[in-house]
Amino acid sequence: MAAATGEPSAFHAFERAGWESIPQAYQDAFGTLTTQAVGPLLDAARVGPGVRVLDVATGPGYVAAAAARRGAGVVGVDFSAAMLAEARRQHPSIEFQAGDAEALPFPDTTFDAVVMSFGLLHLGRPDQALAEAHRVLRPGGRIAFTVWARPEEAVAFGIVLRAVERHGRLDVPLPPGPPFFRFSDPAEASRVLVGLGFEAPEIMVVPQMWRLASGDALFEVMRDGTVRTAGILRAQTPEAQHAIRAEIREAVLPYRRGDGIELPMPAVLSSAVKP
Ligand SMILES: C[S@@+](CC[C@H](N)C(=O)[O-])C[C@H]1O[C@@H](n2cnc3c(N)ncnc32)[C@H](O)[C@@H]1O
Repeated sequence: MAAATGEPSAFHAFERAGWESIPQAYQDAFGTLTTQAVGPLLDAARVGPGVRVLDVATGPGYVAAAAARRGAGVVGVDFSAAMLAEARRQHPSIEFQAGDAEALPFPDTTFDAVVMSFGLLHLGRPDQALAEAHRVLRPGGRIAFTVWARPEEAVAFGIVLRAVERHGRLDVPLPPGPPFFRFSDPAEASRVLVGLGFEAPEIMVVPQMWRLASGDALFEVMRDGTVRTAGILRAQTPEAQHAIRAEIREAVLPYRRGDGIELPMPAVLSSAVKP
């Protein structure tokens, strides 16, 4: 696991390089999915007209755009130049800044709300990022973030990881990072938030449904539109990749609906107040 303090890790560099190369594949794969939790995320952070919001790990700017539509004053921040270019292209009237979630480029008490949609699980030092969110929030301001539910509930991850376990290896040589599903555990999310000085943590599950064409499409979006899961898939031998793909094809059969598949992919939404 990455250190809690100090310099950004090899994992941080690995994530950064990964995000630089997949802005289009990420949007094609996940754009219709992560946007399903945006409304509840903004509600949890009490985002409305005139609220000053920071969208951390903004990616293509989905959350920032929704906050702006609510009449909030929003800034999106991301460490990937490619993602920022995409966000600026799609939302030219919104302010996007380059910056690291673990060292936010803003003074103390700048924002009424800090939101992070599916960003925390990609950070080498998530506790440091939450501490930064606390620092830039004004007293009474709110943090809200989403992560994937555990693979037992977020079915696409369950199917892919089980297939790798059966036919390949999960212990491939990637830079070590924090556990992907750490903040899917409500007790852990509450413990960390309270430990950093937040109050009144609330954790809820937001149902989301991922519509894809097929099991092959699931294999391909995980291989081409993610960073850590893609690293695991690409590190398998060609024979193992073949067997993993076949296993995924079988495993999605119970989720066939019409001419595609529908996979439950709930989010765990945590929020809290800075006293
Ligand atoms: C899974 S995407 C989420 C994008 C968007 N928020 C959404 O909900 O679809 C993760 C984003 O986090 C960004 N990211 C990862 N680590 C970061 C860091 N340390 N600082 C800033 N951005 C980071 C990536 O560049 C990427 O755009």
